[in-house]
This record gives sequence, structure tokens and C-alpha cells, in this order.
Amino acid sequence: MSKMITIQPVSRIEGHAKVQIQLNDQGNVEDAKVHVVELRGFERFCIGRPIEELPRIVPRICGVCPWAHHLASAKATDMVFGAEVPAAAHKLREAAYMAHTIHSHVLHFFVLSGPDFVMGPDADYSVRNVVGIAGKVPDIAKKVLHARYTAQMITQKMGGKGIHPDCAVPGGWSKPLTQEELTQLKQMADECMDFALYAIDFAKKELFPRYLDTVKSFALINTGFMGTVKDGALNLYDGDLRLMYQDGTFEDFKPEDYLDHIHEHVEGWTYLKFPYAKKAKDFSMDLDAPSGIYRTNSLARVNVCDHIATPKAQAELEEFRNMFGRPAQQTLLYHWARLIEIVYAAERMKELFDDPDILNPQTRVAVSPRAARGVGSVEAPRGTLIHDYQTDDKGITTDVNIIVGTTHNNAAINMSVKRAAQDLIKDGKYDQGILNTVEMAIRAYDPCLSCATHTISGRIAVKVVIVDHKGETMATLMN
Ligand code: MG
Ligand code: NI
Repeated sequence: MSKMITIQPVSRIEGHAKVQIQLNDQGNVEDAKVHVVELRGFERFCIGRPIEELPRIVPRICGVCPWAHHLASAKATDMVFGAEVPAAAHKLREAAYMAHTIHSHVLHFFVLSGPDFVMGPDADYSVRNVVGIAGKVPDIAKKVLHARYTAQMITQKMGGKGIHPDCAVPGGWSKPLTQEELTQLKQMADECMDFALYAIDFAKKELFPRYLDTVKSFALINTGFMGTVKDGALNLYDGDLRLMYQDGTFEDFKPEDYLDHIHEHVEGWTYLKFPYAKKAKDFSMDLDAPSGIYRTNSLARVNVCDHIATPKAQAELEEFRNMFGRPAQQTLLYHWARLIEIVYAAERMKELFDDPDILNPQTRVAVSPRAARGVGSVEAPRGTLIHDYQTDDKGITTDVNIIVGTTHNNAAINMSVKRAAQDLIKDGKYDQGILNTVEMAIRAYDPCLSCATHTISGRIAVKVVIVDHKGETMATLMN
């Protein structure tokens, strides 16, 4: 009876992954691992470069998350140069980033994860995709694609390029915004706002009620959480990091002090590291008694913040907390939290466009090289992103460390998959619907494996392999 189930490729995520589920002699799940087999090495080949090049190089880590790398890098280089960024530049960066967040979250909720909820996890994979959604609910699909397009066009109008931007420079932003551009941007931001409210309303009426029981029972684990807060409020661009433990207690610290609070654990079977909370003293992925494990990304951010500073998102947060408490642990709630963040990002973008500072022509200050360390962090759509650079006195990089959102979630993703597999696969019985449901535990985290291994991504894909206790492959299922 004992064997190994392999899911490869895992589909509708960014990058490649393989899931291996080991069954024991009774046909129940003994262990499960998410394997990532890519390695790219940006941290190594960014060394020896003039530091000002890094904000233009690192967006190439990933075509899905370029703005997060661009801005974390720009912030790290600001710090290396000791530059105080002008108010207009800060606001331009944050506004463009809100548009990027909307674009990315809409992609994930509706295009990558939506098919599981709209078509159902048991639907045939030939229709369990965005084309299936377009056939089943064409009006919604049109709205979704238009919202993604609008958000992406905002980033393009502000940054010259929507993908792989180069508009943030050490010390600021490369060009001031014109009144004419701002008028168009405000109109586009209004469209994003309308869609954000439509999306969360649609999900709360049409999708979530159907899955509430599943939410409460699926892939349950209890962990800590980490996210960025500014004066206690949710913030995606700027602030302190907050590490919250399972019991709801937390510690706040400056992004540059992350090494005092986080360790990176290494396992031999994967290129991904496992960051964990230093305070826990040890690292354990035991499902019932994990140690040091914390999660990032949308659910983490809405858990760690005291409040949200924009009114519509705050109202959504209150409704969410009344239902699920703080910290909410249910893995599928990542999706709900993502929709709250879309509302926040649209409201925040509108606030920034209404701020007269945003037209100020002074958008950058001059910088000159020095030997220094700089750390920049942002809340990437997929979790806290940290860029940590060191330069010599000529401004050449001597050390680069990057921790991306998906890496923080690595332990939790493995634990969630194991929990889901244990709950669903009994007595050696499983089918394609069950394996897709196991994949849903991964998709909730919206992992970006291209980012996490800083690797070249080709196809977006997961494969599930089932092996016996001797390691012999019994079955392989591709999506
Ligand atoms: Mg790293
Ligand atoms: Ni990415």
C-alpha cells in the first residue's frame, strides 16, 4: 500500500514546483514536501556592480513581481547613499506601487485561484482555468481583465514601463508628474476603486458563503505572522516590520534589524531556505507544535496591523475580524485578505493622487558613493520583501542578501500541504480532484517561485508524484 504521490507541475502559480506525498503501509500520508528545483543566483551576480544599477537589475528576478524588487532595491540604495528622498518621490513610488499591487492581486484571485472556486476543485482541468471562467461568467471575466489592464497602465504611465520599471532612482524618482498625466491617472484610479468594491462584494455574496465550511477545516495550521505597519496601520510601501506570535503578542523592529529577529534554516532537499523567528530558539515544522514558523503575504498583513488607515478597507477589516478573530489562522483566508488589500490599495492610490505634493517638480536629490550598508523592504504582493546591500567606498556592491515573500512562507506552505494531504488522502485513495485540492493549499499563498529562488522562470507549472516507502514512483500526475 505504501507509495509516493507526486504532483508536478503544480499549476497556476508563478514558477515551477513539485509536490511529493509519501504514503505509509496503510495508505495514509506519512510526509509531504514541496520541491522547488530552480536556482538563479541574483544575489551572487549583483556583487561587483555599481550600486545605482541594482534597482534596474533586480526587477529582472521576476516578471510578475518587478515593482516590489524595484522599490525595495531603490529604498536600499537610498540608504546606502544616505539620501533623504523628497516627499513627491515617496508619494509617486507608493502610488505606482498601489497600482502594481492591484494588478497582481487581481491576477491571483481571479485568474490563478478563481478557477478552483468558480469551477470547483473537482472540475476537469481542461475547464478549471481562466478560459473556463471566461466561458462560464463572461461579464465578470471582462471586468477582471479591464481592471488588470487599467492598473497596469497606471504603472506604465507613471514609470515609463509597466514591467521591469526603471523610474525609481537612488535619491528619488526620475521625472515629475504633469497635471495632464495626473488628471488621467485619477480617472484610472477611480476605475480601480470601483472594481475593488465590486470584487469584494461579489466574493462575499457569491463565492465565500459556498466555501465557509471548507475555509474553517482546510489545511489548518497555527503559526505566527509578519508584515509591515506604519504607526500600527497596514502599509505596503513603508514602515516597521511586525512579527506576531501565535498567541497574538508581537514585536516591532526596523527592516534593517531583521537579522536580529529572523534566522534562515537550510534543508538539503530544496534550494529554498526556511526563515524562522529567532526568538523561538529552534525550527520545527511539526504540524501540531511548530516552532519559529511565521507567515507573510495578505493574511499576515491584515493580522498584524492594528487598523487600516483608509475607511472602506477598515470597514472590511472589522467585518473580517468579527468573523475570524486576530490572528486569523485559516489558510484559505489569504484570498479574502487579498480582496481587502485591493480595496486599501485603491483608496490609498486615490489619496496620494489627491495630495498636492505629488506634482512637486523636486523628485530627486543628488547622491554620491560611499561605503555603507542599506536595507530596503516593501510588502510585495506575495509577502515581505527585503533587499540588503553592502558597498565599498567606490559604491561597488560587496554583499547582497534578498529574502522574498515566498521564502518566508516556505515552511508554512510545506506544512499546509502536508495537513491537506493527511486530511484528504486515506487508505491509499485519491483522485485528480483531491490532488488539485492539495494544490489549493499552495495557491492560497500565491507563491512566486521565480522570486524565491531568484531564478529564470519558464512555464508556470506543479507535478504530484506518489512514491512507496522504498522511494519507487507509483504514479505521476501532471496538470
Ligand atoms: Mg537570500
Ligand atoms: Ni515574483
